[in-house]
Amino acid sequence: MSLTLALSKGRILQDTLPLLSMAGIELLEDPETTRKLIVQTSHPEIRIVMVRATDVPAYVENGAADLGVAGKDVLMEHGAEGVYEPLDLQIARCKLMVAGKIVEQLPPGRLRIATKFVRLTQAWYAARGEQVDVIKLYGSMELAPLMGLADRIVDVVDTGKTLLENGLEPKELICSISSRLIVNKASLRRQHRLIKPLTEKLAEAVRYKMSAAEAYVS
Ligand code: ATP
Ligand code: PRP
Repeated sequence: MSLTLALSKGRILQDTLPLLSMAGIELLEDPETTRKLIVQTSHPEIRIVMVRATDVPAYVENGAADLGVAGKDVLMEHGAEGVYEPLDLQIARCKLMVAGKIVEQLPPGRLRIATKFVRLTQAWYAARGEQVDVIKLYGSMELAPLMGLADRIVDVVDTGKTLLENGLEPKELICSISSRLIVNKASLRRQHRLIKPLTEKLAEAVRYKMSAAEAYVS
């Protein structure tokens, strides 16, 4: 029996690799350059599969991967009730926000909100008793208010540079986001021998990284 860990290229991969390395696991090929979607590691029983960030919960929930790393935004949108979330990796940290034009004129009726987080957005406005029209987009959300497609957007914000450079500003904070280790429920039972030590080593790596960052700040 071996373990399959689902990761996505880009910031999640970049931020997860050092944690894996601290846990003694190195990738045998560079996933950013190889076209292979399955990459072996220095641990004979652990391999990595490369999937889209938004596809990670589906792979883990259905057991096609035993573990994965996914943003809390993606997990909330997917509704990942079928997976365990044992560890906050404290990586890819950002905030899920409502944003809009710095100078804006909101319509009197329902707001049009552009986002890729349709469920999350609907739930957030519903909880406030506000009815909105949600427009599903797959990227470049910031463009929607500028082009009159939407009144506001719901998207992740880190530095705020993308908003600022497009004449937008954050309006409301929905929640803080970081990426989580997720585990398939059946795998946790069957592969406990491998998953438990891996989770513990990753938790130790996260603690080490956080305390090093704190020491650097103070
Ligand atoms: P997909 O490729 O499936 O459309 P994506 O483009 O959102 O997904 P990434 O950009 O790699 O994938 O983002 C992965 C995760 O990183 C997001 O789910 C979010 O939690 C976090 N994230 C997104 N943008 C930022 C950012 N600018 N700064 C920090 N973290 C971010
Ligand atoms: C994300 C997000 C914003 C941007 C925010 O996009 O969709 O556009 O980061 O970051 P900032 O506040 O630091 O400017 P990303 O760079 O991941 O590109 P994407 O559209 O491919 O997801």
